[in-house]
Amino acid sequence: MVKFLITCDPGLEDIAEMEIKEIFPNAKVSKFFNFQGKLLVEIDGNYEKLFNLHSIHHIIKLKKEFYLEKPTMDEIRKVLEKIDIEEMKNVETFRVTSQRYGNHEFTSIDMQKTAGEIFLEKYKKKVSLKNFDLNIRFDLIGNFGYVGIQLTKDSLYKRFKKIFNHPAAIKATLAYGMIRLANIKDGEFFLDPMCGSGTIVLEAASLYKNRIKIFAGDINQNYVEKAKENAKVNGLDEFIEFKQIDATKLEEYFTSVDKIVTNPPYGVKIAKRKDLKGFYWKFLESVSKVLSKEGRAVIINLRADMFRNIILRLKTFKIVHERVVESGGIFPHIFVLERIQ
Ligand SMILES: C[S@@+](CC[C@H](N)C(=O)[O-])C[C@H]1O[C@@H](n2cnc3c(N)ncnc32)[C@H](O)[C@@H]1O
Repeated sequence: MVKFLITCDPGLEDIAEMEIKEIFPNAKVSKFFNFQGKLLVEIDGNYEKLFNLHSIHHIIKLKKEFYLEKPTMDEIRKVLEKIDIEEMKNVETFRVTSQRYGNHEFTSIDMQKTAGEIFLEKYKKKVSLKNFDLNIRFDLIGNFGYVGIQLTKDSLYKRFKKIFNHPAAIKATLAYGMIRLANIKDGEFFLDPMCGSGTIVLEAASLYKNRIKIFAGDINQNYVEKAKENAKVNGLDEFIEFKQIDATKLEEYFTSVDKIVTNPPYGVKIAKRKDLKGFYWKFLESVSKVLSKEGRAVIINLRADMFRNIILRLKTFKIVHERVVESGGIFPHIFVLERIQ
């Protein structure tokens, strides 16, 4: 068994675990100190397929775990000096990256520096903080130390090439989580009526290709065009139809939609929307006119109380699931709605 520390979106650990077990049925997945956004994963055999997962950010292959009664820098140095990192033999440059949680008499920068000096001395390779061939991770959580190799350079959520990035774009991993919550079946009609740069439809297209019908819209024609270009550079444009639409008038464009997955404006990041409540109300009213009988709408937003209130007053939907996630330092809620039959 090879052990990995895997990071994901805080709040979507269960979805990451589900995806990992679909690809690696014998994997052992557990929490890492109850931290959100971190999982310990043990895998037998070839782990290359970890890189194809849609729900995770970083993959760290663990080499050594240790416990120190008194984690002083001297004690740490003694442990690090004994660790063999065979991967260092085949590289020219390396760096050490550290995270530290708890009370210590040193910072994570001190940890990086000390570990860097030890491995430099031992393997005689150059340190390069930016253009490194190997990223050694050395983390400390209270009295527990972890040394490993970070196999991902960029986070895996950056999987799409984007010629244009919307200022309020979400991560592809979050889009994946929302799509999983929509419980899509082959042949369904899928819509993101506020697509921005297209993250959600790109994710849907990369997962389902033409097994479903995917439609993307936005009120801003410029975003519609840019999202289309994003789809093109990723070779996904043939699976998505794009059009300028108003999400508060969906019934003007569609008769029946099976799954709506969307990230409406939160009303905070770009311009503060004066009438966010009125906008959400009109949007949800419009969703209730087009959502099919067995349909689902998965909507992420920051104003959970307000959103819940609208749902209760509209009396057309029930909230079948709600959860909080972390996204760019804020904590929006994902709501999953179904029709009240
Ligand atoms: C938060 S952004 C979506 C970002 C997107 N998820 C991404 O990753 O790029 C919200 C989008 O809703 C669009 N929007 C706002 N009001 C709309 C309306 N009435 N109809 C359709 N789109 C609307 C905005 O133009 C904006 O692109």
